[in-house]
Amino acid sequence: MKNQLTRRRFIRHAAAGSAAVTLLSARQAPLAFAAEAAKPALLGGVPVRQGGWPSWPTWREQWEPAVLKVLRSRKWFRGSGETIAEFEAAYAQLLGAKRCLATASGTTALLTSLHVMDVDAGDEVIVSPYTFIATYNAVLLNNALPVFADTDPASLTMDPASIESRITDRTRAILPVHIYGMPCDMDPINAIAKKHKLAVIEDACQAWLAEYKGRKCGTLGDLGCFSFQESKHLPSGEGGAVTGNSDELLDRCTAFHNCGRATGSFKGNGYFTRGSNYRMQHFQAAILTQQLEKLVTDTAHRRENADYLSAQLKQIPGIQPARLPENSRAVWHLFPFRYDAQQFNGLGRDKFIRALNAEGVPCSSVYHEQYFDGILDEAINSRGFKRLFSAERLKAYRESFQELKGNRQVCATTVAMTQNMLLAERSDMNQILEAVRKIQAHSAALAKSA
Ligand SMILES: Cc1ncc(COP(=O)(O)O)c(C=O)c1O
Repeated sequence: MKNQLTRRRFIRHAAAGSAAVTLLSARQAPLAFAAEAAKPALLGGVPVRQGGWPSWPTWREQWEPAVLKVLRSRKWFRGSGETIAEFEAAYAQLLGAKRCLATASGTTALLTSLHVMDVDAGDEVIVSPYTFIATYNAVLLNNALPVFADTDPASLTMDPASIESRITDRTRAILPVHIYGMPCDMDPINAIAKKHKLAVIEDACQAWLAEYKGRKCGTLGDLGCFSFQESKHLPSGEGGAVTGNSDELLDRCTAFHNCGRATGSFKGNGYFTRGSNYRMQHFQAAILTQQLEKLVTDTAHRRENADYLSAQLKQIPGIQPARLPENSRAVWHLFPFRYDAQQFNGLGRDKFIRALNAEGVPCSSVYHEQYFDGILDEAINSRGFKRLFSAERLKAYRESFQELKGNRQVCATTVAMTQNMLLAERSDMNQILEAVRKIQAHSAALAKSA
């Protein structure tokens, strides 16, 4: 894994192209497979694509007065202005959620939600293992154990069938992750939660406007968490939000993220709960509100290209785009597919990625089996966790990572491209397809090469 890019570095790398190049390639002729016969770029041939991809994040001059207004108002702190509240109302409306609370980040949205759903020291939370590390961290920082459900290799999301066997008398919540903006199969997850009286907190940090059976991700469980970090589809450098339909829960979130100050249904001037400072700044909210319309149009653009890519890629033997739950729509924070080396003459996944990169198509393997990295060993060997959990429980917990066969398969075979690539033109998608086909045509030679 050492020579693989981290996700954020990869996103920056992939975005470092010029719009001019995109325009140029948009004018190229429709897909012709002539290049397939040519030597692969990794073996010294000419890349299918030369140049970059649409850059990310984007900014428009016409958005600047909104930011300047905050600056000149000298109302920069959440308690003094209205800009954050305006963003919260607009984002809630866009999602069809009753309430939205803006936070400093997706991580603090998760920390807030876990606290409010009463995940306490010594509890357990059933978590998707296939996610950004912040999902694990949020549970661990609440001094609770992230117990991993398995990943469904077809959908890359939490396999509902793997949840119940992992529930113990300490389990408080289920934390599914709509990874890459692909909705989890929420009906069975919610049914299990209801049966066992567990909270459901959606990690929708990559799933702005994703839909499951006509409802937006982030409104399907008790609380939903979003990230507005710079690589995200709705970016403000850092930022996040908690969404939900319960006034009481959102009032609790508001208090917790604001040092525990009483608010809404919790009247009074005092502090009725523990809390932290996880507040957003008005500058961030101004930047976010300006981009809401663009989020909607970008999402439609990404979907159109992703649908096209999925339909074309699945015709290539050995390439399997992810399966979505019935009646759902993804938003593609990354565009993933599973790779079967056997259909490519044994060309290993990491070399396939290198070959695709050399053809001018940035992609990466993204998440690995992070539970073996040491973060969980550090936690379970800590004084606190040893006090909170029996040695027997911690041993069984550590051993349970070996059971995550679906997740292992997903980590070993997934390849993903970044969202900004989906903002290019149809002809650019054809170049991606052409590059994959070219590599397949030459896979035997590539497999043999150093
Ligand atoms: C799935 C997931 N969860 C949580 C987070 C944490 O969000 P943030 O970086 O805004 O703290 C991220 C951010 O990348 C994420 O992708």
